[in-house]
Amino acid sequence: MKAGIVGTGHYVPDNIVTNKDLEKIVDTSDDWIRTRTGIEERRIAPDEINTSHMAYYAAVDALEEAGISGEELDMILVATVTPDMGFPSVACQIQERLGAFKASAMDISAACSGFIYGMVTAKQFIESNTHKNILVVGVEKLSKITNWEDRNTCVLFGDGAGAAVIGPVSDNRGILSFELGADGTGIPHLHQTQEDFIHMNGREVFKFAVRQMGDSALNVIEKAGLTKDDVDYLIPHQANIRIMEVAREKLDIPVEKMSKSVDKYGNTSAASIPIALSEDVKAGNIKEDETVILVGFGGGLTWGAVALRW
Ligand code: ACO
Repeated sequence: MKAGIVGTGHYVPDNIVTNKDLEKIVDTSDDWIRTRTGIEERRIAPDEINTSHMAYYAAVDALEEAGISGEELDMILVATVTPDMGFPSVACQIQERLGAFKASAMDISAACSGFIYGMVTAKQFIESNTHKNILVVGVEKLSKITNWEDRNTCVLFGDGAGAAVIGPVSDNRGILSFELGADGTGIPHLHQTQEDFIHMNGREVFKFAVRQMGDSALNVIEKAGLTKDDVDYLIPHQANIRIMEVAREKLDIPVEKMSKSVDKYGNTSAASIPIALSEDVKAGNIKEDETVILVGFGGGLTWGAVALRW
């Protein structure tokens, strides 16, 4: 028995902010943002929709796809760096709303790699046979820690939530291999400031990301006993199309076999991979028995990847 994804879900706020809208608030241009990042627009949540609300909506969608109720959950893991408050965790907030009173609940802080960290944590509990259904959510309201006067960062980020139910699947399916990593020496390049804003040295993060995304993807392929030719679909963290393209080229994956939503949502940190996954599943882009690679990097610095058989 292996741990695999048995349901996916996502939620993005309705409010669209285009590059043209940002031209009105900082010294930037639609052309600069598109060519440097691939981003065309992003979703920004209104005041009344906080992180826990988005997490709840994505969770409801994932439970529905999995065909289970909140009562059947054994654990809730929420990956976020933008919780509603320091405590209680977003996981406890949605546990109450989902009526998941059998479930233990905690948040995971691993920035954009958080959803992969959550999946790999869930896998351990499922495969040790102590838990059956684990909800993993990646959610961010980055707009509340974005400095809207800093053009270096404010053009990059967006809000949203993605979720997956992880449960037991047959032996030849599910999570085949994983890699998790962290390097605290990278903290100066990407962190939250005293004023609560995102500080980023874009060039340093870019250099790290292009190296790490390709390396981690290749590592999980090898650990699963596969080769690049066996990979059918790639879901990279949606940070910047140029970073995603380097990973795709390292894996020799055709353009149409790489998930792309960075153009419409920007970088939603921990939410980016599960939003992409849920949209791909709903669009039928991933077929049974296909091999899928999920790979991400983020603040910490952190990184993670999994190889999955769908
Ligand atoms: N509009 C116009 N000009 C800009 C903007 C903007 N929005 N932002 C920066 N510039 C300027 C810079 O000031 C710089 O000007 P200068 O040369 O006069 O100093 C110039 O554009 C070029 O800057 P570069 O750093 O060379 O641009 P680069 O090609 O590296 O692209 C970018 C910048 C998009 C930020 C890129 O470095 C990148 O994507 N880095 C990785 C970001 C990332 O993925 N972060 C993950 C964070 S996730 C998390 O944990 C929340």
